[in-house]
Amino acid sequence: MIKLGVLGVGDLTDKMIRGLSRSGSVATQIFLSPRNHDKAAALASDLQCTAMSSNQDVVEAADVVLIGVRPAHLVELAQQVTLKPSQPLISVAGGVSTADLRRLFGERDCSRAMLSYASEINRSTVAVYPAASLAAQLLAPLGTVVLLATEREFELATVSACMNGWFYFLVHELQQWMTEKGVSSEQARALVFSSVEDCVAYSRHKAATPIDELGRSIATPGTYTAAGLEALAQQGGYTAWRAACDTVFKMLVQEQQ
Ligand SMILES: NC(=O)c1ccc[n+]([C@@H]2O[C@H](COP(=O)([O-])OP(=O)(O)OC[C@H]3O[C@@H](n4cnc5c(N)ncnc54)[C@H](OP(=O)(O)O)[C@@H]3O)[C@@H](O)[C@H]2O)c1
Repeated sequence: MIKLGVLGVGDLTDKMIRGLSRSGSVATQIFLSPRNHDKAAALASDLQCTAMSSNQDVVEAADVVLIGVRPAHLVELAQQVTLKPSQPLISVAGGVSTADLRRLFGERDCSRAMLSYASEINRSTVAVYPAASLAAQLLAPLGTVVLLATEREFELATVSACMNGWFYFLVHELQQWMTEKGVSSEQARALVFSSVEDCVAYSRHKAATPIDELGRSIATPGTYTAAGLEALAQQGGYTAWRAACDTVFKMLVQEQQ
């Protein structure tokens, strides 16, 4: 039974805890920090976890500590706790390097993980650095583990986690367009979701074929798909997505200099 102490019970860790509990596949006992009392109390009442009365109590009860605060709150958190010697630490704080984590919390086994809200239903991407770390083992029930060999690659995985967020807005935009044209909101949602799922499923099925090749096999000259693609390119659709990726990656890399 691994005792996991969660420092920072927020939107993401709430879903991770629910997913870990839901999976039933890991023997994990969970201890929660008291700040954001309502969330911790709801988790403690819904699941087998314990809301503690201080951050240090969480540390004392835990074998492994999961840091779930926002980067801006890390210094304050580090001042509130003294981790046990060699107590491993897993952080989901975006853009905070393992070197910075060691500087703040002391020399120890530090790993980083990047997940999404789909942790709650055990369908998240679970990006982990370093590859051989406790995080991969402990968080595997939350979805598909992707091991990153370098911290730079991990930051790129963080960009892909942002893509996950952007997809919601893209899907919403497409759904909105359909409803504006007269399709019911439910039908528009079903049609757009189904299109996305179908694309992912077929691409997985054709794993050996490059995705752009699959796309080109659909958007052959003269098709409606090709006409739409041309409009996307003309309006800077692809450039805009690349710019979003560049913006986030630059921020992540700069934060570590
Ligand atoms: N949300 C996502 O989709 C997502 C995805 C990947 C990674 N992340 C990363 O996950 C981290 C948390 O994000 P989030 O969206 O879950 O943020 P959040 O909802 O604000 O959760 C952070 C929680 O930590 C609490 N907290 C702050 N300082 C604390 C302290 N000293 N001791 C104990 N608890 C403290 C906050 O309380 P207060 O509200 O009172 O400050 C809040 O309840 C971030 O570092 C982010 O980079 C988030």
